[in-house]
Amino acid sequence: MISSALEKAYRRYADKRPNSATQNALARAVLPSGVTRSVLDFDPFPFTVAFASGCRLTDVDGHEYLDYLGDYSVGIAGHNNPVVRDAVAGVLDSGWSFGAVAADEYNVARLLCERFASMDLVRFTSSGTEANLVALSLALKSAARGKVLAFDGGYHGGCLSFSRDGSSLNVPFDAVVCEYNDLDSVATAFDRWPDQIGCVLVEPMLGSGGRIQGTPAFVRGLRELCDRHGALLIFDEVQTSRMAYGGAQSLFGVHPDLTTLGKYIGGGLNFGAVGGSRDVMRLLVRGREPHFDHSGTFNNNRFTMAAAAAMLSTVLTEENLGVLFERGEGLRKRADDVLRAAGFQATGWGSLLNVHPTDVPVTRAADLAGTDRRLTQLLFHEMLDRGVYIGKSGFVTLSLPQAPETDDIFVAALEDSLRAIPAGPHHSNRSTWGS
Ligand SMILES: Cc1ncc(COP(=O)(O)O)c(C=O)c1O
Repeated sequence: MISSALEKAYRRYADKRPNSATQNALARAVLPSGVTRSVLDFDPFPFTVAFASGCRLTDVDGHEYLDYLGDYSVGIAGHNNPVVRDAVAGVLDSGWSFGAVAADEYNVARLLCERFASMDLVRFTSSGTEANLVALSLALKSAARGKVLAFDGGYHGGCLSFSRDGSSLNVPFDAVVCEYNDLDSVATAFDRWPDQIGCVLVEPMLGSGGRIQGTPAFVRGLRELCDRHGALLIFDEVQTSRMAYGGAQSLFGVHPDLTTLGKYIGGGLNFGAVGGSRDVMRLLVRGREPHFDHSGTFNNNRFTMAAAAAMLSTVLTEENLGVLFERGEGLRKRADDVLRAAGFQATGWGSLLNVHPTDVPVTRAADLAGTDRRLTQLLFHEMLDRGVYIGKSGFVTLSLPQAPETDDIFVAALEDSLRAIPAGPHHSNRSTWGS
């Protein structure tokens, strides 16, 4: 029943999008799967966007979508935000790729260090992945140890995701993978490898792993365990820093040794940063011993730096982030009410949500292991059919141009989409990893 509903949805989708089909066929000849990011690869083929504005996308077949994906949390400012546009245009007048220092990078660093209480010094990278690679390398050097402790379902970049299955294209760090929201599993790992675990890498909310919020006891407990065992704590706040002016760490009241940032801060341009205590970051200060070089041709890309300075000083205000957070909390509750009636649920925190086809409590990645992903795909297509774009795995991300009125459209589309989905048990396997 689900398979035939999905087949019908694919056919309906393809029939309405001949231009996207042609574009995808061309792209497949030169790009694996016809895409540049696995998350954009879905059946029968992804639609091709022609232009975007505010919280709306228009594809090459003329379909308009209300954008509730927000480029996987990059798009906090919406499309063609005038503040970002002016900042980028200003660079066009003064030049770029200097191979030298410019003032905007100081401004961005200063604005970040002002916001994040745990950051004394910061370095930029071209992506969140790279920021995490630098953070891990710095932490291991600082601790003079070899093992990284990470979490099942943790996603820290294209070559840095951790799961019990170990199936990803990963950089070969010596990783110990523990259960998210389970301090006992972390304590056990520290006991098993005393003096070997150099750092704990954690997202304050599992992002790509299903938007599962870390409990305060878990997040604060990690700080205590790291202190007790002489390991560094790295917060990957690439997604969660949008929760508050000082990031998720300010809400938990926890000082990580290093924090990584990315995504939305560059206003839609490539961005990454790693910042932390003077003690750790001074490993990058020339003249100190020990000292490590850290380069990257595009670390001070002028377009990114100008956009990030504008974002931090004008768009990412305490007020804007607060409004977004509250709207997200409200939308998740409304969505969850509608979803529960159909055996689904919404997880998440603030302006980041994830729809899952299961009604079991979700506190770790393993709780999602038995869900029927065809249902998520079906919901994704039903939502597209109603003009609302979310992530293919149920990601929903709020952006500033959306409004309570667009949230109403989103909830109505969700309610209507769920009616088109076959009823039935939506979680086939209630047994979870380790149990
Ligand atoms: C929590 C988290 N860390 C790191 C990354 C990697 O960032 P980038 O895609 O910019 O390399 C992502 C991307 O989705 C992420 O969600």
